[in-house]
Amino acid sequence: MLFSLSTIAAISAFASTALGAALPVSGNPNTIAKRALSGEATFYGGNTSGGQCSFTEYTLPSGVYGSALSDSNWNNAANCGACASVKGPNGKSIVVMFTDQCPGCGPNHLDLYENAFTELGTKSAGIIDVTWDYVACPITSPLSIHMKSGVSQYWFSAQIVNAKRRTTKLEISTDSGKTWKAAARTTYNFFEISSGSGATSAWIRVTSETGSTVTVKNVSQTGDVRATATANFA
Ligand SMILES: *[C@@H]1O[C@H](CO)[C@@H](O)[C@H](O)[C@H]1NC(C)=O
Ligand SMILES: *[C@@H]1O[C@H](CO)[C@@H](O)[C@H](O)[C@H]1NC(C)=O
Repeated sequence: MLFSLSTIAAISAFASTALGAALPVSGNPNTIAKRALSGEATFYGGNTSGGQCSFTEYTLPSGVYGSALSDSNWNNAANCGACASVKGPNGKSIVVMFTDQCPGCGPNHLDLYENAFTELGTKSAGIIDVTWDYVACPITSPLSIHMKSGVSQYWFSAQIVNAKRRTTKLEISTDSGKTWKAAARTTYNFFEISSGSGATSAWIRVTSETGSTVTVKNVSQTGDVRATATANFA
């Protein structure tokens, strides 16, 4: 039986509200509901900077491969930057980060970068069956906030890169953390507030899918700024 991601998210949101700490915690806290997703995998050249997640200046962490994710699982870019452990027909598992969308690919389909595909199967196979699940990215350095070109106090747009877990919320504060305003996620993986923060500098707080938060203070509301946090998601 297949669940759409939004169904899983809805179940998870309900479960975490209704059951709180009573939820069974699996070994990996990044996994909302431990499940082996089954799908097919293909491959393409892969282009992290040119992908739909808009990681224009991000380099994949060492040991992590790249992949495009089916539009069936896209969920308004919510899985951009998420990592997954993928197991192929040869029994080997690798970790990929989602950097791009695979349009019209069907549920749970992964379009792997070629070097990822050849770890799991032979290139001549062209298409292979895989099972996969979300895992925490093997990242130990802090996450960063990347302000989009054109940002000012009148228009806010930022993305999170190098995060260990999926980012579910980005908020800004211009009163040193007393009040917060949430930004809306775009399908190209930025969080935006069309009216801007209203200040030349703002605090930015991001929340992961497990509820851990990271705050970066005094982020200049200027295009192309990259503000590196002091930590990553717990
Ligand atoms: C990757 O995408 C970028 C941005 O669209 C583009 O400039 C670059 O030529 C692409 N690289 C390859 C190898 O296709
Ligand atoms: C942030 O800006 C405020 C006001 O200018 C200043 O007092 C504070 O020290 C700054 N904090 C950091 C972490 O830079």
